[in-house]
Amino acid sequence: MSIFVNEQNGTFHLQNHFVSYIMAVLPNGHIGQLYFGKKIRDREDFSYLLEGCIRSHSALTGSDTRRLSLEHVRQEYPFAGGTDYRQGAVRIMQENGSCLTDFVFRRYALTGGKPVLEGLPATYTEDDGEAETLHLYLEDEKAHMELELLYTIFRDEAVIARSARVRYTGSGSVRIEKMMSLNLDLPDDRYDWIQFSGSWARERYPMTHPLHQGIQSVGSIRGNSSHQHNPFVILKRPDATENAGEALGFSLLYSGNFLIQAETDTYGVTRMQAGIHPEYFAWKLEEGESFQTPEAVLAWSEEGMNGLSQTLHRLYQRRLCRGEWREKARPILINNWEATFFDFNEEKLLQIARKAASAGIEMFVLDDGWFGARRSDNAGLGDWYPAQEILPEGIKGLSEKIEAMGLKFGLWIEPEMVNPDSDLYRAHPDWILRVPDRQASLSRNQYVLDFSRPEVVDHIHAMIADILRNASISYIKWDMNRSISECYSAVLPADRQGEVYHRYILGVYDLYERLIGEFPHILFESCAGGGGRFDADMLYYAPQAWASDDTDAAERMKIQYGTSYGYPISSIGSHVSAVPNDQVGRITPLKTRAEVAYFGTYGYELDLNLLSDEEFEAVKTYTDFMKEHRELLQFGTFYRLRSPFEENEMAWMVVSKDKKEAIAGLYRTLNVPNESFSRLYLTGLDPDLSYEVEGYGRHFGDELMNVGIVTSTVMSGKQNGSVCRAADFTSELFIVHAG
Ligand code: GLA
Repeated sequence: MSIFVNEQNGTFHLQNHFVSYIMAVLPNGHIGQLYFGKKIRDREDFSYLLEGCIRSHSALTGSDTRRLSLEHVRQEYPFAGGTDYRQGAVRIMQENGSCLTDFVFRRYALTGGKPVLEGLPATYTEDDGEAETLHLYLEDEKAHMELELLYTIFRDEAVIARSARVRYTGSGSVRIEKMMSLNLDLPDDRYDWIQFSGSWARERYPMTHPLHQGIQSVGSIRGNSSHQHNPFVILKRPDATENAGEALGFSLLYSGNFLIQAETDTYGVTRMQAGIHPEYFAWKLEEGESFQTPEAVLAWSEEGMNGLSQTLHRLYQRRLCRGEWREKARPILINNWEATFFDFNEEKLLQIARKAASAGIEMFVLDDGWFGARRSDNAGLGDWYPAQEILPEGIKGLSEKIEAMGLKFGLWIEPEMVNPDSDLYRAHPDWILRVPDRQASLSRNQYVLDFSRPEVVDHIHAMIADILRNASISYIKWDMNRSISECYSAVLPADRQGEVYHRYILGVYDLYERLIGEFPHILFESCAGGGGRFDADMLYYAPQAWASDDTDAAERMKIQYGTSYGYPISSIGSHVSAVPNDQVGRITPLKTRAEVAYFGTYGYELDLNLLSDEEFEAVKTYTDFMKEHRELLQFGTFYRLRSPFEENEMAWMVVSKDKKEAIAGLYRTLNVPNESFSRLYLTGLDPDLSYEVEGYGRHFGDELMNVGIVTSTVMSGKQNGSVCRAADFTSELFIVHAG
């Protein structure tokens, strides 16, 4: 890894074993983008890559030899209001009413490792040799502002991490109206855009379309990253597949309102941007104040989308997740939500836990309904003390009883919310987000607390920390069950109301930071009505996230498959639940439910007392299997093999780092009569190693990858000597060992 700087011609070349990222100072002092892609050797002069030209109707910036039509130049961080008619990366309103800025290059600095972004989640390094950072400093003298563009290149990954910071040095104030974390101008538009979209219970379905002239985007203005869209987009070459071809990933480390967009111009140049959504955003800077954007991670692969995902999985597992759970296999838990919903008392919980302990499950998680007057979703939210009538000896008493069974104890919280029918709201009605003299809208009977206010965060922190201090709690599920509306803070002045969405999420980060600082042993799982806040930045605090409220196995195939594009398997919260499934009424085999959930954190969300003896014995077997293989399943190299969005069958697999162990899962949606022959082609194995596939004989890696496993009779029953599929929603695992 190196950062080459040619001071004579103002060129910067970030290079590692995989990629090159090249920029140069333009004649007008702005920064031009020259290349991002597969590693190329460094050279004296890359100016031939400066393709700026002047065309009919171009407006020219600057004077004499410095004249440039910015519209035709690929730039690093374009400024609004000049001769570039595409979207700017930054727009700052000044006191004279102009938002024209002209930041010109002043100096650069190189630092080892990666700087911390104050108050924000970000990837990190553990020693300075793991990455190098280029800081480009620009200045707009007339507007009294300094801009710092940060670029970190990692030594071992095809990744560049980017962010930007602006500082105001004048008197009075300016107002940032838009400030993107990343802008990347690509020289052509021969890409398919893949976004990960859906809705509650159908999160992160990959949706693909070719780039076209104009703007295409995904974003959220809901206050969380949302069920609807995810702050992650892939651009892939049209011929790129899961295993071959070029793909670029744009991942924003931010849970608030976001925007990722591509603008393809008349000449096919594609401008990618990722950052805080400019809608509803405005940030006031007074003299000496600065604003730091969230981080965006730019990943590259020439090994298709599996290669891209593996890069992000490794980076996020090793250098975004923190703490002792970072690379540790996750406990197998049982959560009482779908088993009881709000209808439980201590004895019922203990019965569920007792049975779980006898199945080898490791942790019991008490979900919603344990506090205040929370007997339904109508009341109690915000009152973080145990309900006496349900838990006579409090959380402490319950956790001790659970631990006496040999289980760890976990707890659900929803710290950002309040029911109007709660002691907290009665005491502090002004603590919610609400526009004065207007009604605040309810969603799931709750309001959103104003986490932009430190005293609100302090109060919630005190209540939650008190519970965590006084009971033995090993896990927290942190939920967020509604979108924000009527976003307005009672304490901020009118000209700072545009800051509330961002200040809110900074408050969430702050509470997380304080709790993980004080309780480093606790495993946090984030959640937002299922997968409404499943994004990279949350992994900085909570290394796993509840992927969806939809626990049906067939639905989960799609959700987990889609999620795997941007996020590691160790982060995907996955449970076996009861049938008929609560969300879709579907009945799927217990085996399939387990075999889908294996590719995630794995747990249960049902009352095991209600299973037949045979099913209960099966649960024990599944639990043992997960204990034996979870390191590989959660931290192995993951490959998508067959897409549930394209076929009736889905397949995926994990391979150990030394390629000696692998597990593949094959899943069928609907049964097919008299069907064709079929094969499952494995990938990622060593072609020269001899492998035993449990139940399917011994084969060399090259056979398994090129000939495939004959699966025509897999998942089938035999009737009268002829093969027929046993049922809908069947699955089969292939356990592969070398030697
Ligand atoms: C959300 C979560 C569920 C459960 C409920 C409790 O919907 O996604 O798993 O915790 O809240 O109210």
